[in-house]
Amino acid sequence: MNKRVAIIGAGPCGLSQLRAFQQAQAKGADIPELVCFERQSDWGGLWHYTWRTGLDEHGEPVHCSMYRYLWTNGPKECLEFGDYSFEEHFGKPIPSFPPYAVLNNYILGRAEKSDVRKYVRFNTAVRDIRYSEATGKFTVRSTDLNEQADQEEEFDHVIVAIGHFSVPNVPSFPGIDRFPGRVLHAHDFRDALEFKGKRLLIVGASYSAEDIALQNLKYGAASVTCTYRTGAMGFKWPEGIEELPLVTKFEGSTAHFGDGSTREFDAVILCTGYKHHFPFMEESLRLRTHNRLWPPGLYKGVVWMDNTKLSYLGMQDQYYTFSMFDAQAWYVRDVILGRIALPSREEMDKDAAGWQAREEALADPIQDIDYQTAYCKDLSAATDYDIDWDVQSDNFKHWEHHKEEDIATYRDHSHPSPVTGVQAPVHHTKWWAALDDTLETFMDTR
Ligand SMILES: Cc1cc2nc3c(=O)[nH]c(=O)nc-3n(C[C@H](O)[C@H](O)[C@H](O)COP(=O)(O)OP(=O)(O)OC[C@H]3O[C@@H](n4cnc5c(N)ncnc54)[C@H](O)[C@@H]3O)c2cc1C
Ligand SMILES: NC(=O)c1ccc[n+]([C@@H]2O[C@H](COP(=O)([O-])OP(=O)(O)OC[C@H]3O[C@@H](n4cnc5c(N)ncnc54)[C@H](OP(=O)(O)O)[C@@H]3O)[C@@H](O)[C@H]2O)c1
Repeated sequence: MNKRVAIIGAGPCGLSQLRAFQQAQAKGADIPELVCFERQSDWGGLWHYTWRTGLDEHGEPVHCSMYRYLWTNGPKECLEFGDYSFEEHFGKPIPSFPPYAVLNNYILGRAEKSDVRKYVRFNTAVRDIRYSEATGKFTVRSTDLNEQADQEEEFDHVIVAIGHFSVPNVPSFPGIDRFPGRVLHAHDFRDALEFKGKRLLIVGASYSAEDIALQNLKYGAASVTCTYRTGAMGFKWPEGIEELPLVTKFEGSTAHFGDGSTREFDAVILCTGYKHHFPFMEESLRLRTHNRLWPPGLYKGVVWMDNTKLSYLGMQDQYYTFSMFDAQAWYVRDVILGRIALPSREEMDKDAAGWQAREEALADPIQDIDYQTAYCKDLSAATDYDIDWDVQSDNFKHWEHHKEEDIATYRDHSHPSPVTGVQAPVHHTKWWAALDDTLETFMDTR
């Protein structure tokens, strides 16, 4: 096959894509030439933790939004790869909620086993992608950051896998410019110990707000107040965390809230989400969406309907992660290999409109989970990707229930693997007491 495929990003989605092609090749398929562009010096995407914030060693924006002591916020049995179990990687069953170093180790384990590192150009940032109707090809301009040298190349297909949790959404509030303490976005949050003994205000009511609130209390913050725009998270919080309506203004270190109450704070963390940001894409190829389960313009949630040689991976709001990324990558691979014939534009529009209408009618997290499960099943039915989606879905529903029961203890539960069927062991230390997030301590190999 003399096609060339550009994959932008070597995070979990890019690595799923490389594995999908490699798996087809191992089964005898002729695969295209693959070039995976990765701006960072190593792979793993967000899971490649760095202490840096702001700009990196090359003056590029730091991609990492992870922080120290981050444990997975969903059971690992909901993100397990269908073709590579945790048990295969670690040689034994492990507990359901590992810290980030353990998850990163697992993601990279499959990538290394499938020998796909040779396809990745590290320290290489994609700057510009254009499509020519005349040649039927994309021109990709990239910069080798070590050499500061630009290169332009042509590709038959482009797969964008740069994630959408790296460019912060940063609202402003009256008086915040004169707040005397530290103000930062979750993207720049790295270590809860910085806020030990501090009175912390957290803006936002989603996963980052929930986890950063809990984590700061766990590591010794004096108090945590979360302030919400649309609705409170409403968990049964441990003592020391409260929720108030949206902050209306700051006067010095005093914050005023929508219900008329006031509080004094030492620091503010904006957990206000991220932007889908594709500055290198030609305007007509650029995905425009907020964080939702059905981003518009994508057939099967991946294929750009205005030019089906372009795909986006992982652009959905995510209950499912790695296994959904696999299902997407396997699908995109089979479109490129000609194993899946895309229907007419009219039929693609109709199919996408149906999913969007269903998304807009969703009323609660359980319905969201059923919806994203149905989406994953729809995708994987078209390829040879295999995993027990029903086990993953059941795990998500139990997890939701555990969170409702007690937000501070849901990570102490164990779940069954969708690959091996084995129930995970209970961790040696309750999450609230587990202060050391290293792989060695988690695996108890010290
Ligand atoms: C704080 C936080 C915690 C999370 N915790 C969990 C969790 O516990 N469990 C879970 O399942 N999911 C979690 N997620 C969700 C996360 O989105 C996925 O796990 C996963 O990292 C997404 O993979 P991705 O490949 O789409 O994107 P990313 O992981 O963001 O990787 C994208 C890659 O593209 C590269 N890139 C970007 N721009 C360019 C460019 N112009 N040129 C070249 N390369 C480029 C980046 O350097 C990066 O390596 C978390 C997200 C955040 C923000
Ligand atoms: N492993 C972990 O423990 C962990 C920790 C953190 C994050 N994550 C992951 O990171 C991803 C991103 O989560 P996220 O919480 O950062 O983003 P998110 O889910 O998109 O939520 C964004 C939040 O910001 C709020 N917001 C946006 N603009 C605002 C404004 N102007 N004023 C007040 N509030 C505003 C939103 O409120 P509205 O509801 O009003 O829109 C929403 O609550 C998720 O996939 C999550 O799983 C995981």
